[in-house]
Amino acid sequence: MEQTYIMIKPDGVQRGLVGEIIGRFERRGFILKGMKLLTVDKSLAEKHYADLSTKPFFQKLVNYIVSGPVVAMVWEGKNVVTTGRKLIGATNPCESAPGTIRGDFAIDMGRNVIHGSDAVESAKKEIALWFPEGIAEWQSCIRSWVY
Ligand code: TYD
Repeated sequence: MEQTYIMIKPDGVQRGLVGEIIGRFERRGFILKGMKLLTVDKSLAEKHYADLSTKPFFQKLVNYIVSGPVVAMVWEGKNVVTTGRKLIGATNPCESAPGTIRGDFAIDMGRNVIHGSDAVESAKKEIALWFPEGIAEWQSCIRSWVY
């Protein structure tokens, strides 16, 4: 079953949006497979955003991610990478549709509340980076009904 890496960024944690965001993924039918609250060091933030290291906003982005605790999560389910991105909304919150997480809770590109992997391959890399200890195996009892 497909998995994705979802991270509630420091602004989302500080604004008390953790429960709201988790609820949206749960209600859609996705299954929470791993979760931890952690404060990130610079090297992890730089590795996570390595593909953007040449961008002019890179340093600001890294400083934002290390500015407070984040909630790192693994979510599982049918098409969860693409559908998770739809739940999240466009990168620039001003362009995110109302009803999406960014469209409902953000207006600033530099404080856009949440991260979600953009492809199955990057999800695998991000899950390995953020959960090097692995995630506990468990099966939801509603799984056979939803899927
Ligand atoms: P990106 O991976 O392109 O977007 P997404 O988070 O939607 O996958 O960019 C990573 C983060 O970098 C993005 O969430 C916000 C920040 N960012 C800027 O601050 N300025 C920019 O011009 C872009 C493209 C992104």
